[in-house]
Amino acid sequence: MDNKNIKIAFFDTKPYDRPSFEKYGKANNVSFKFFEAKLNEDTAELAHGFDGVCAFVNDTVDAAVIDRLESLGVSVLALRCAGFNNVDMKHAYGKLHVLRVPAYSPYAVAEHTMALLLTSIRRIHKAYLRSRDFNFSLSGLVGFDLHGKTVGVIGTGRIGRAFIDICLGFGMKVLAYDKYPSPDLQNDGRVRYVELDTLFSESDVISLHCPLTDETYHVIDEKAIERFKKGVVLLNTSRGALVDAEALLAGIKSRKVGAACLDVYEEEADLFFEDNSGHILEDDTLARLISMPNVIVTSHQAFLTEEALENIAETTVNNLRQLFDTSSCPNELCYRGGVAEDCKSGKCF
Ligand code: NAI
Repeated sequence: MDNKNIKIAFFDTKPYDRPSFEKYGKANNVSFKFFEAKLNEDTAELAHGFDGVCAFVNDTVDAAVIDRLESLGVSVLALRCAGFNNVDMKHAYGKLHVLRVPAYSPYAVAEHTMALLLTSIRRIHKAYLRSRDFNFSLSGLVGFDLHGKTVGVIGTGRIGRAFIDICLGFGMKVLAYDKYPSPDLQNDGRVRYVELDTLFSESDVISLHCPLTDETYHVIDEKAIERFKKGVVLLNTSRGALVDAEALLAGIKSRKVGAACLDVYEEEADLFFEDNSGHILEDDTLARLISMPNVIVTSHQAFLTEEALENIAETTVNNLRQLFDTSSCPNELCYRGGVAEDCKSGKCF
C-alpha cells in the first residue's frame, strides 16, 4: 500500500454530501474538490488534473463525457450510488474504471417506500395540511388496512427483501417476481414467487425494486396497467423509467390505479434535487401527476438517511483506496465496461 493522495472531482454536490465525504476522505488521504455542477459534456473539463470523478444518479456519463474524461487523464469514475444506468458502460470499457456502492442501508429505501405507502393510504399528507389550518374534519380521509392485503414486489434484492420484511411485519401476503429468484426466499414459505402477470392481477400494492435495464424499461406500461387489480397502489422508489409515466397518468384518470407514490421519475434529471419553486414546470405529465390527490412525489430522497450517507461515503472512499493501492481492481466493484472477468484477470491495469 503506498497510500498516495487520490484527487477526486466531486460533481453535483449538495450540502448533505460534504460532511461524510470530508470525514472519510481526510482519514484515507482522498481529497475531494466539491463542484455544484452536474457532470456532463460541458462540465467534464472541471476534472482536469484529478485522478477520478465522483458522480451521482442524475449526472450524465455518456460516450462524449467518457472520452473527455479519458483525454484529461481521469482513470476512474466512482459512482456514489447503486444504479449505473446513467453510465454508458460499454463505452467505458478500457477507458474508465467504474466503481459504485452496490449496497448501502437498503433499509433507508425500504423504509421510505413504506412511509410513502402509509402516507398515501392513510391520507397523512392531507391530514397534516388540514390540521395546520385547524381543520379537524375527517371527511375524505378514509383509508384501508394493510393487514391481509397482497403486496407484489418486483426485484427481491437487498431493498426488495428489506421491504418484504416490513410488509410481513404488517401482516401482508407477499407475491414476488425476480429474474433470478432467491432460493432462501423461495424456501421461506411466506413469500410466493409468481410470474409478472399473476403479480399484476393479484396485488393490492405493487412495489418496484429491480434495476433499470433494457429488460425492465417501462415494465409498468399500458398493458401491465390493464392487468392490474382496480385500485392498486403503485410504489416506485427504484428508477423512473421502470414506469411509463403517460400510461400511469391514464391509469390514474381511468381510476384503475388507486394511488401512486413515486420517489423517481423518468425525466427527473433536470428537476430533482433542485429548488424549482420559482419556475414554470415544463413537464406537463409530471405537473398533472403532482396535481392528482392520490399521487405523492418525493424527489429521489429514499436513500437520504444519516446511515446511508455514511455508508456511501465510506464505501466510495474504500473503493478508491482499494483500486489505487492494490494495482488490481476490487473486481466485484469495478465493472470496467461490464466485463468483470477482465478485472479479475488483472487486465484492468
Ligand atoms: P440488488 O442488486 O440487491 O437487487 C436487484 C434485484 O433485481 C436482484 O434480485 C435482481 O435479480 C433483480 N432483477 C434484475 N433484473 C431483473 C428483471 N429484469 N426483472 C426482475 N428483477 C430483476 O439492488 P438493490 O440494492 O435492492 O437496489 C434496487 C434498485 O433500487 C437499484 O437498482 C436502484 O435503481 C434503486 N435505488 C433507489 C434509491 C433511491 O434513493 N430511490 C437508492 C438506491 C437504490
